[in-house]
Amino acid sequence: MTTQPLQPVPPLLSVRDLTMAFPGRRSRSAPVRAVDGVSFDIAAGETLGLVGESGCGKSTTGRMIVRLLAPTSGSVVFDGRDISRLPQRALKPLRRELQMVFQDPHSSLNPRQTVARIISDPLLVHGTPVAQARRRAAELMELVGLIPEHLDRYPHEFSGGQAQRIGIARALATGPRLVVADEPVSALDVSVQAQIVNLMEGLRKELGLAYLFIAHDLSVVKRVCDRVAVMYLGRIVEIGPKDRVYEEPAHPYTRALLSAVPLPDPAAERARERITLLGDPPSPAAPPPGCTFHPRCPKAREICRKEPPLLRIARAGEAREVACHFPETEPETETGTAMD
Ligand SMILES: Nc1ncnc2c1ncn2[C@@H]1O[C@H](COP(=O)(O)OP(=O)(O)O)[C@@H](O)[C@H]1O
Ligand code: SF4
Ligand SMILES: [Mg+2]
Repeated sequence: MTTQPLQPVPPLLSVRDLTMAFPGRRSRSAPVRAVDGVSFDIAAGETLGLVGESGCGKSTTGRMIVRLLAPTSGSVVFDGRDISRLPQRALKPLRRELQMVFQDPHSSLNPRQTVARIISDPLLVHGTPVAQARRRAAELMELVGLIPEHLDRYPHEFSGGQAQRIGIARALATGPRLVVADEPVSALDVSVQAQIVNLMEGLRKELGLAYLFIAHDLSVVKRVCDRVAVMYLGRIVEIGPKDRVYEEPAHPYTRALLSAVPLPDPAAERARERITLLGDPPSPAAPPPGCTFHPRCPKAREICRKEPPLLRIARAGEAREVACHFPETEPETETGTAMD
């Protein structure tokens, strides 16, 4: 029997050189490059965590992927099709497959609509009859751990965690294949955050979903992501499989973010190295020259002030990429010795 060679499976989402330049505040001021050449793939059923401080361009990236914003340049290929330039009317069928969950559940749900209406709305838009949409809304309530009998209640009758479950149910109504979750637990009490993360992880397995899971904290995405991308001032500075990035961060910014995550073991917490970043992130309206992280980087040298580092494989044989002139890698790479 002959075996056919396996065809490589194209990613579900492929983002290339994505850029968003918002107009400057004043008529003559330079545009704000909120996202500046971001590239990554997400496979079907996979979760990519996207992490970075507030203002680094995470939401703008997410909003361009679901086409709530049209990119200034670059491409977003979803299921083999470039959707970055599609006109609004051509986006409607796409909305079934590509959905978003927002940060603040209460402000993203219409307070004057019942939960039944909120969850069935995406179905009604696509022509599902009202009675059928209501039945589906009841099923979705159950799927996200809510009581279907509460369909005729209003958002204010639910807690923050319950409201986010409603937001998730609405996102799942049309059976999407990719959900962009923009800090879905940041507005919730810490005690509720884990429940929502667990729910989302369970739904991913059950429904075969892919997520772009956005957070400002590496600890939030650790549980759910297969790979993680770290963003700084509109660019990805490190991207790779979860275990590589968490166990052996190669970019000084990733190391600093990880050193801020509390460790459960008090002895390990006392022993570990803390990296304190200097100052706040610079404004994307006036990014520093060279490596944009250099004013805050404890390892910055002369070249860092002049030459922007490219995102590249830090160590042969690894799928992890880093944008740094002096990434933290094993001594072997620095002396050029091949890995086993
Ligand atoms: N509509 C807009 N007009 C102008 N600037 C914007 C707009 N939306 C976001 N920005 C700016 O773009 C940068 C990235 O914002 P955002 O994507 O919301 O970051 P994050 O989600 O990582 O906090 C910030 O400097 C923000 O002020
Ligand atoms: S390129 Fe230089 S300044 Fe930038 S992160 Fe690396 S060591 Fe720091
Ligand atoms: Mg945001």
